[in-house]
Amino acid sequence: MKELSRVVSSIPPSETLAVSDKAKALKAAGYDVVALAGGDPDFDTPDYITAAAFQAIENGATHYPAPMKGITPLLEAIAAKMQADNGVTVKPGSDIVVTPGGKWALFLALSAILNPGDEVLYLEPVWVSYPPMIALAGGTPVAVTLSADDNFRITADQLRAKVTPRTKALMVNSPNNPTGRVITQEELDAIVAVALEHDLYVISDEIYETVIFDGRKHLSPAAVAGMAERTLTINGLSKSHAMTGWRLGWLAGPTPIMKLATQMNSQTVSSAANFTMHAAVAALKGPKEVTRAMCAEYQQRRDFMVPALNAIPGVECLDIEGAFYLFPRFPNSRRNSAELAEALIEKAGIASVPGGAFGKSGEGHVRFTIATAMKDLEKAVEKLAKVAHEI
Ligand SMILES: Cc1ncc(COP(=O)(O)O)c(C=O)c1O
Repeated sequence: MKELSRVVSSIPPSETLAVSDKAKALKAAGYDVVALAGGDPDFDTPDYITAAAFQAIENGATHYPAPMKGITPLLEAIAAKMQADNGVTVKPGSDIVVTPGGKWALFLALSAILNPGDEVLYLEPVWVSYPPMIALAGGTPVAVTLSADDNFRITADQLRAKVTPRTKALMVNSPNNPTGRVITQEELDAIVAVALEHDLYVISDEIYETVIFDGRKHLSPAAVAGMAERTLTINGLSKSHAMTGWRLGWLAGPTPIMKLATQMNSQTVSSAANFTMHAAVAALKGPKEVTRAMCAEYQQRRDFMVPALNAIPGVECLDIEGAFYLFPRFPNSRRNSAELAEALIEKAGIASVPGGAFGKSGEGHVRFTIATAMKDLEKAVEKLAKVAHEI
């Protein structure tokens, strides 16, 4: 048989999805497993959103949508949201494409700008899918390593040190998966300075925008003067409205890039689901209280979990500023992160994601989600406290 795709063979499968599947299988086999590996909100999609979807189905929104890149009320609702929440001006007719999930929006962004050999900077620890997506889109992933000892702070010098004449873009994710960091004004200034100095595109993944704690303000790079023409913003409803299964995201940015992204979308997935788009209009026009209430609940869980983990000898957990993941480390352990995750599931029945899945700087860490019920988090702390000395 002839050789299969080299580029696809070279990328690893998504480790976060694999661990979630393993935890579900153990649970189904009767094991007492606390599943802290996933990235799926434990809340149900709010009723007014599901009602809008049922209504859309009844109204016949079960065919191809028109326009394919997003029904007009949704494009308009996204543009209005970006103006109001992010201070970013985009034209609904030309600067947005609705995608089946935020993940596809990321891939479209990369595909629309990259040529073979182009380098893309990403900040590490990194969400598992960025480097494989860069490679699949024909680029070369280049890590900018951030340090837990410096609370994963981003500086202009760290970015500059990795820029070469081939650097095309920089990927940023705030609030961040897996570190829980939210970029500060100073960090945004550093990103903007380097992007302008070196004529880079910025791909800003804002999927966790609404999960942000202690009154912090979410900052969008596209809102900064001089950045709109070089920034591609990714967002969606998976995390904000507990809609992971609906597959609804979007990409917004400068018209010439969006023209290519729309072309690519039309020749691959065609569109997001029609009735899902109608539900998305309801979600975006609905009360902000819905996302605020979920955020308040995540914050409460963080307020419980971070001190509880730090109270366990041998466990260190930085406070988080947003998103719904904790990234604790075990400084006294000689195990690597895969062995740590294995030991956690075997000895404590806690499913986690090994930090190494997020790049070399994630070694020594595991990722726990707090998008799970408080009673499960309490159980996890109890179980971990009992076995931490063995880990
Ligand atoms: C950082 C980050 N970006 C994008 C996504 C993609 O979200 P979606 O489920 O909408 O494709 C995820 C999902 O886990 C994520 O963690």
